[in-house]
Amino acid sequence: MDTDVKSVGVIGAGVMGSEVAQVFAQAGFDVVLVDVTADALDRARQTIERSLRFQRILSSRSGGSASMGTADRAAVLARIAFTTDLADVAGVDFVIENVTEDWDVKRPVFQALDGLCKPHVVFAVNTSVIPITKVGGVTRRPDKIVGAHFMNPVSLKPMVEVIRGFHTSDETIEAMLSLLAAIGKEGVVVADSPGFVSNRVLMLTVNEACYLVHEGVAEPAEIDRLFKGCFGHTMGPLETADLIGLDTILLSIEGLLENFGDSKYRPCPLLKQMVDAGLHGRKSGRGFYDYR
Ligand SMILES: NC(=O)c1ccc[n+]([C@@H]2O[C@H](COP(=O)([O-])OP(=O)(O)OC[C@H]3O[C@@H](n4cnc5c(N)ncnc54)[C@H](O)[C@@H]3O)[C@@H](O)[C@H]2O)c1
Repeated sequence: MDTDVKSVGVIGAGVMGSEVAQVFAQAGFDVVLVDVTADALDRARQTIERSLRFQRILSSRSGGSASMGTADRAAVLARIAFTTDLADVAGVDFVIENVTEDWDVKRPVFQALDGLCKPHVVFAVNTSVIPITKVGGVTRRPDKIVGAHFMNPVSLKPMVEVIRGFHTSDETIEAMLSLLAAIGKEGVVVADSPGFVSNRVLMLTVNEACYLVHEGVAEPAEIDRLFKGCFGHTMGPLETADLIGLDTILLSIEGLLENFGDSKYRPCPLLKQMVDAGLHGRKSGRGFYDYR
């Protein structure tokens, strides 16, 4: 590994945090995975176990060596410490934060981390739209705050959008890119702006696709088929929305509206209603499609 980092603190064990923890543990890093409830950690452990088993099946079907045997899976899991105590990250070399896409949730996490972690430790923010400079502003280490917008599912996506905040140093960017290289991923560095590059475009597309359903122009399956058949996308916008989580989509589009003050980011009423109704996509079993 071309990095001095040996241990990584992963904060938040939801859709992204559990995958980020798995990918780092598979690459040989010690991981401390933190969430607020034991239930969330249990779900994360089950998700990781399922994902490791699935990788073995995929590998054997494609003629691979099916190297992920029971002992290997146990070794990966043994590298992850599951905890509800944020103080357990005090000794880690690098932090990747993946808590709920809500500033009122993220802000106190970074303030606490700043007091807990060693001064040289870099904090990577895995956020959909929250400006990295804003995160830096609530810590005493704004030069060590960097955006790492991982793509979902983390284990299958080779690229990460890396965001340079106003005060982010060149050393921090280099440390982030080296760490990503150590897990086999390439980082593309962009400047700080709400939603960065990918989500400024993606969230508008998803929200507009919700409007198409809301207005009865097309069914979700027709919209997704058009994007796949006409543009060669592997997934349509509403399948993507279900994968991301409709609650996270709504928080993201609301974040863009708040940050830009531009009405083009007004959330579709159907999206709001689905979130209120508990239809959060794959993670809740139902969104634009039924996964039960
Ligand atoms: N879902 C995606 O496809 C995707 C992709 C890229 C980036 N993101 C971003 O990653 C972040 C996490 O998204 P997600 O989809 O995993 O959300 P999620 O709702 O699935 O998980 C968030 C987790 O954070 C936990 N949490 C909340 N407060 C916490 C605290 N104080 N300490 C520790 N854990 C806490 C929650 O209990 C939950 O388990 C968000 O900022 C989101 O915008 C999501």
